[in-house]
Amino acid sequence: MVVSPTPENLERAAHIIRSGGLVAFPTETVYGLGANALDALAVAKIFEAKARPSFNPLIVHVANREMLEVVVQEIPAVAERLMACFWPGPLTLVLPKSERVPGIVTAGLPTVAVRIPAHPVAQALIGRAGVPVAAPSANPFGYLSPTRAEHVERMLGERVDLILDGGRTEFGVESTIVLLAEKPTLLRYGAVAVEELEQVLGSLEFQVAEREKPLVPGQLPQHYAPRTPIYMALPEEIPPELRKRVGYLAFQEVPKGFKVVKVLSPTGNLQEAAAHLFEALHQLDRLGLEAIYAEPVSEEGLGRAIMDRLRRASQGTEG
Ligand code: TXA
Ligand code: MG
Repeated sequence: MVVSPTPENLERAAHIIRSGGLVAFPTETVYGLGANALDALAVAKIFEAKARPSFNPLIVHVANREMLEVVVQEIPAVAERLMACFWPGPLTLVLPKSERVPGIVTAGLPTVAVRIPAHPVAQALIGRAGVPVAAPSANPFGYLSPTRAEHVERMLGERVDLILDGGRTEFGVESTIVLLAEKPTLLRYGAVAVEELEQVLGSLEFQVAEREKPLVPGQLPQHYAPRTPIYMALPEEIPPELRKRVGYLAFQEVPKGFKVVKVLSPTGNLQEAAAHLFEALHQLDRLGLEAIYAEPVSEEGLGRAIMDRLRRASQGTEG
C-alpha cells in the first residue's frame, strides 16, 4: 500500500520495521526496500521480495553517528573527512563491520556498507524505528531502480508491507560507493561524482565491480513481465526502418524518425539527466516497444554513473 509520509504513517512504518517487516521508502537517490538491519530474518525477506538469485551485500542506512557506531567497528580519519563533506547524502562508505550486523546483511564479508541518507522521509523513518535499516534499491532483481513510489508499487506491490511516497527522488541514480581500506577505493559510480571525491581525497583507486553475469530471459523470475531490451547507440547508427519501431532515450536533442523519444536534459546537464534516467526508462519500458535505444553520454561527472547504469540496463543485470 502506498501512503504519504504523515507522522502517523511514519510511526506505522517504523513499527513495521521494528517488527521485522518490509517498508519501501524514498531516499535522495532511489527508493529503498528496508528492513531492520540487526534482524537476520527480516533481512532475508528483502532477498525473497527481490527474487535475487544470490545474496548480495546490502547498504545499511543510519540516522546519526550513534547508530553508525552500532554497525561499524571503527571510523578511520579518512571516513571522518568524507562524512563531513558528503553526509547526510548519496555517498556509501564500506567500513569494518561490528558484531551486531548479521552475516546476511554483508553476505559474509567482514565489512559493512553504510550511509546517512539526506531525504527527510528516510531520516524520519530510521530515526523513529530506532534501528539501522538495511535497504537495497526497491526493484526486483534485473529491473530498473525505482525513482517514484508508483514504480515500487508496480514492481513489488504485494511483497512489501508499506510504501512511503516521497515523490520523485532528487538524484535518480544510486549512491557512490567507496571502500575505505588501505587506500580509498571506488566500488560503484553514483550520485557523488568522482571529481568531488578526488577534491577531498587527493587520489582514489578504482575497483568498479564487473557486471554480474547476465541472466538469460528464462531465468528471470516468472512473476515479472519481460522487460524491453535496451541497447546503446547514437541515433545515426540506427537505420530509418528500425527507428519507426523503437523508442529512443536521448541526452539533449530530439532525434528524428523514432516511434517515441524521451529527452533526459534539454539543457545538456548531466545531473538533470541522471535524475530523469530511470524514470524515462520506466516510461519507455511500459510502452511495449520492440526495443529501446539509449544515447551514450560523456563519461565525466555524473555521466559515468549514467553510462554505468545504461550498460547494466542493457544487460538486464541491475541489482
Ligand atoms: O543509493 C543507494 O545506494 C540505494 C539507496 C536505497 O540507498 N541503495 C542501493 O542498494 O543501491 P543496492 O543493494 O541496490 O546496491 C548495494 C551495493 C551493491 O552493489 C553491493 O555489492 C554493494 O553495495 N555493497 C554492499 N555492501 C558491501 C560491502 N561490504 N563491500 C562491498 N560492496 C558492498
Ligand atoms: Mg540496486
